[in-house]
Amino acid sequence: MTKSIKNICCIGAGYVGGPTMAVIAQKCPEIKVHVVDINAERVAAWNDPNVENIPIYEPGLSDIVAETRGKNLFFSTKVEEAIDEADMIFISVNTPTKTYGMGKGMAADLKFIELCARQIARVAKDDKIVVEKSTLPVRTAEALQDILHNTGNDVDFQILSNPEFLAEGTAIDDLLDPDRILIGGDIDTDKGQAAMKALVDVYAHWVPEAQILTTNVWSSELSKLTANAFLAQRISSINAMSEVCERTGANVDEVARAIGMDSRIGSKFLKSSVGFGGSCFQKDILNLVYIAKTLGLEEVADYWEQVIILNDHQKRRFAKNIVKTLYNTVSGKQIAMLGWAFKKDTNDTRESAAIYVSDHLLNEQADIIVYDPKVKTEQIYADLEYLGHHSSEEIRRRVKVVSSAKEACHNAHAIAVMTEWDEFKTLDWADIYEKMYKPAFVFDGRRILDQLKMEEIGFKINIIGN
Ligand code: UDX
Ligand code: ADP
Repeated sequence: MTKSIKNICCIGAGYVGGPTMAVIAQKCPEIKVHVVDINAERVAAWNDPNVENIPIYEPGLSDIVAETRGKNLFFSTKVEEAIDEADMIFISVNTPTKTYGMGKGMAADLKFIELCARQIARVAKDDKIVVEKSTLPVRTAEALQDILHNTGNDVDFQILSNPEFLAEGTAIDDLLDPDRILIGGDIDTDKGQAAMKALVDVYAHWVPEAQILTTNVWSSELSKLTANAFLAQRISSINAMSEVCERTGANVDEVARAIGMDSRIGSKFLKSSVGFGGSCFQKDILNLVYIAKTLGLEEVADYWEQVIILNDHQKRRFAKNIVKTLYNTVSGKQIAMLGWAFKKDTNDTRESAAIYVSDHLLNEQADIIVYDPKVKTEQIYADLEYLGHHSSEEIRRRVKVVSSAKEACHNAHAIAVMTEWDEFKTLDWADIYEKMYKPAFVFDGRRILDQLKMEEIGFKINIIGN
């Protein structure tokens, strides 16, 4: 018999857990949703009386949190209490790429997932449905099952895979109106089917049932990796063509438009850029490459690895082009970086191209002035320090963070547009030009500026893919 869910716990109050649970709470007022995290600072920010201070910036999110928080949406650090009370537990903790040991630099680090499983096993006194929400390597559910079922406390755990397809910056729209919901479970048993039905019922509060797909666990897990690999592959494909365009005089947007009108190809995800970032694409492809290698599928591994190789090349060649154009030296020159987030409308900087381009420019002893409307100064320093290529002292001496684009560009030798924030399209470019060193160079890594207009003002502009 299907259990009707009354109490949900979500472990992990990050970019996935936070927005997803806020939307579930809004759409399912009869369900109590507890989001728990070991990071007390993050939890405090979610509970900040001023809802604009929640730790994640997503258009529309703060309104939903304001509406539901304290009613049926709660944030706390009381992980065990929330596990104990819940009928359904979502695991939304981070699964970074391993930085040590076997699979270093490729495999997903499942340390946090395993800790969660052990904690659930220890605390649970009655039957639970455990939902993996984090992107995980295929067959993680099996590992979860193993840990949970060997605890000896006679509790039945049903493990479901329910990958999240939301993209940052549009998370709320993606959650409210998803293309599909994917639920993988043990379809061969009655208990497995009942667990899947219970989760279908949660989503059916606002998603038409025809859009809720149910599969076996492995298909669900692999579909998530495959979807991200295909999306990233499209970007690397168009970015590969951007370099050909630059050499031949073609325009990459015109090429994208022409091919995108072929309904078999489609027009989305064909925007050439300085390289994709974000917490998912690189991690998931590396994970896929690792899985393929582990299975002895060398050609498959090489095929997908090329998507990452091209993406790294795109970031590197953008940085090199800046150095080359500025007469082969940027030493002591001021480069304004407009944007630090990996895309617009988010404060997330994970794997952002801006980090790698800046790192390269620091190798060349450039002075960097950063402006991003949503990213905090300390995050920018932490991102550069994490790479470990430059001392904290050097980074803080060479990199300054300012609070407007105008300030960043003042006395700059060159400007690099790293994130496609809308406000960069409408800056007073003539005024900026006046206050820069001449020749005033602009490198548009996002194709948001009008080449002719910028040239009319006097800029020497380099647009990726032109
Ligand atoms: C991605 C997937 O889209 C989402 O389904 C999954 O759940 C998580 O990973 P996200 O990383 O949040 O989402 O953002 P996305 O919009 O996919 O952008 C990823 C990167 O690709 C960004 O750096 C973006 O600027 C870049 N991009 C995207 C391009 O360079 N060109 C494009 O045409 C699209
Ligand atoms: P994602 O983008 O996948 O949501 P984030 O890094 O934004 O990833 O969020 C993951 C969250 O999970 C972090 O806030 C982290 O503190 C939390 N977390 C990791 N391990 C645990 C754990 N064992 N218990 C509770 N929270 C955890």
